Amino acid sequence: MKLGLMIVASLWGVVSLMGAAHGNRTFTVDYANDQFLKDGVSFRFIAGSFHYFRAHPDTWQRHLRTMRAAGLNAVTTYVEWSMHNPRDGTYVWTGIANLEHFIRLAVAEDLLVILRPGPYICAERDMGGFPYWLLKKYPNIQVRTADVNYLSEVRIWYNQLFTRMVPYLYANGGPIIMVQVENEYGSYFACDSKYRTWLRDETESHVKGHAVLFTNDGPSVLRCGKIDNVLATLDFGATNDLDATWARLRQYQPNGPLVNAEYYPGWLTHWTEPMANVSTNSITGTFINMLDQGASVNFYMFYGGTNFGFTAGANENGPGNYIADITSYDYDAPMTEAGDPTPKYLALRKIIARYLPLPSLPVPEPVPKRAYGTVRLVSCCTLFATGTRKKLATGMVQAAKPKTFEALGQYSGLVLYETWLPRFKRDPSILNVAGLADRGYVYVDNEYVGLLARETPVFSMPLSASAGRRLQILVENQGRINFGRQLNDFKGITKDVRLDKQLLTNWNMTTFPLDSFESLEELISQSNEAASMGFQELRKPQHMLRSGPAIYHGMLDIIQEADLADTYLDMSGWGKGIVFLNGENLGRYWPLVGPQVTLYVPSPVLKVGTNSIVVVEYQQAPASTELHFRDTPILNARTG
Ligand SMILES: *[C@@H]1O[C@H](CO)[C@@H](O)[C@H](O)[C@H]1NC(C)=O
Ligand SMILES: *[C@@H]1O[C@H](CO)[C@@H](O)[C@H](O)[C@H]1NC(C)=O
Ligand SMILES: *[C@@H]1O[C@H](CO)[C@@H](O)[C@H](O)[C@H]1NC(C)=O
Repeated sequence: MKLGLMIVASLWGVVSLMGAAHGNRTFTVDYANDQFLKDGVSFRFIAGSFHYFRAHPDTWQRHLRTMRAAGLNAVTTYVEWSMHNPRDGTYVWTGIANLEHFIRLAVAEDLLVILRPGPYICAERDMGGFPYWLLKKYPNIQVRTADVNYLSEVRIWYNQLFTRMVPYLYANGGPIIMVQVENEYGSYFACDSKYRTWLRDETESHVKGHAVLFTNDGPSVLRCGKIDNVLATLDFGATNDLDATWARLRQYQPNGPLVNAEYYPGWLTHWTEPMANVSTNSITGTFINMLDQGASVNFYMFYGGTNFGFTAGANENGPGNYIADITSYDYDAPMTEAGDPTPKYLALRKIIARYLPLPSLPVPEPVPKRAYGTVRLVSCCTLFATGTRKKLATGMVQAAKPKTFEALGQYSGLVLYETWLPRFKRDPSILNVAGLADRGYVYVDNEYVGLLARETPVFSMPLSASAGRRLQILVENQGRINFGRQLNDFKGITKDVRLDKQLLTNWNMTTFPLDSFESLEELISQSNEAASMGFQELRKPQHMLRSGPAIYHGMLDIIQEADLADTYLDMSGWGKGIVFLNGENLGRYWPLVGPQVTLYVPSPVLKVGTNSIVVVEYQQAPASTELHFRDTPILNARTG
């Protein structure tokens, strides 16, 4: 009792200090009058989603200004746990992870902030934003439930995150008016009410009423999505029956402001699908109707950006229906991947101007693009060559059974599984890799023999005794599932490997996370010595790389500052892999299936002088070892 009183007394001290410093800054829900109150005055937001982790930090300010110039008064962002906490106990708050800088830029551009800390965010990101190491630490973790291991990790993470966020909450003088609790939890099969209320209380223990807590859910799943004493909002795209949609919300929340927290002006795209294409006409009607009703609306996405590196996620629509998200998150949003206003942007801006005062900002011009032309690459080495292995492998583990990427402590990239083949009882025998995630390039004695892939799905193939003796399965992680039941999406060989009925054991697992550009650079600088390794592949264009992934490198010279511009790397003629430009992993490419054929290069990645390009091609010898830089993207094609 006494202790409680002391805490109350000291909180009072803090509150009154803040009060003095920040006048009457309050952001609250006025349930009786179906509205928000900002500083006691009726308020609505027209906001747009923009995820800082999907854009180069030097471009954040430009994108935020473009959003503001559309008339938006708030920016909505998820917070990606895995980006800030890539390893257990390691936290990153700089560069693209400098969330506080992003928030300060939003303030400078006169935007309020709606924060969606998850901790699960989906967002078409690897594991829905969860750090992969949770699966190493607790292989049976039940994320998004009251599992004590999960809750204790969320508590540790939220302590780190909110220590930084609390000063930016609205009532503390910052721009954050709303903080989301979980993310579309109503769609998650677990429907764990104990977890929902725990996360509400955990979030509120940091927010302390200094911003509004909210949930968002599809209109039909509020039963598991709505949390007592938290503002419920909806996620929905254009609809012919807006009143019926809001009525679903009113069943659970009879009063309060109407909010569409994810209004879809575009959509996500997976590899092999046509690029999302949502017409402007199809979205303006519902938008206008919502605004006429006094609703607050957030566009998801207003600016999509890029899944650089290995950050893209995947979906699985039932077992065997794995499909990975493309690198671009253009989303057919009102702003392009480069941040340029589109006709959709101009149409929405006109509508917004009828409901909110437009700032005196011109519509920004498109950012300069440049077609730098052709760069000739030279081959450096194959992944399996002894020198390459030494440089790029971060370790080799021997075990009776195959281990997953997670058990090996590896986020993404490739793992090579090797074992000696036993005597064949039948020739050919059937090689079966159960639980392969996601793609296995199969070799015997360094010679390619076939491809197994989860997305097809093909988990078995005939193997001939004459092929040789050392079986090698190089497994690629194409992105962890970000939505649905299968969030514990372990990568690598997750079950076992059999030759007919016979279990194969005694595996060597070599880890190639491909996350250190330094080791690639060292490898390339030594590659002149390795030129004698031979490169037959070059003479067999567009065939499978017979002796494993190959590394190519080249230089782009930029003479002067004025020549620096955004550009697109055209991967036509290449197979599947990743590209580093000046050490930045631009993301996965796979033009053979499309629809994304170019990789976006924001100008801050480039520099005056020599720019280094390194391609790690997993699959197919390029048609020619040239790369072309274009001034327009190709996001709706395929080359295979
Ligand atoms: C705070 O709000 C009260 C009541 O609405 C008002 O009288 C007072 O002037 C406000 N103070 C500031 C600093 O805005
Ligand atoms: C989207 O579809 C429309 C109509 O079908 C077409 O004219 C347009 O070119 C498409 N846009 C893209 C980016 O594919
Ligand atoms: C695995 O590694 C051990 C130790 O280096 C080696 O003796 C063995 O031959 C390797 N197995 C395969 C299949 O390469």
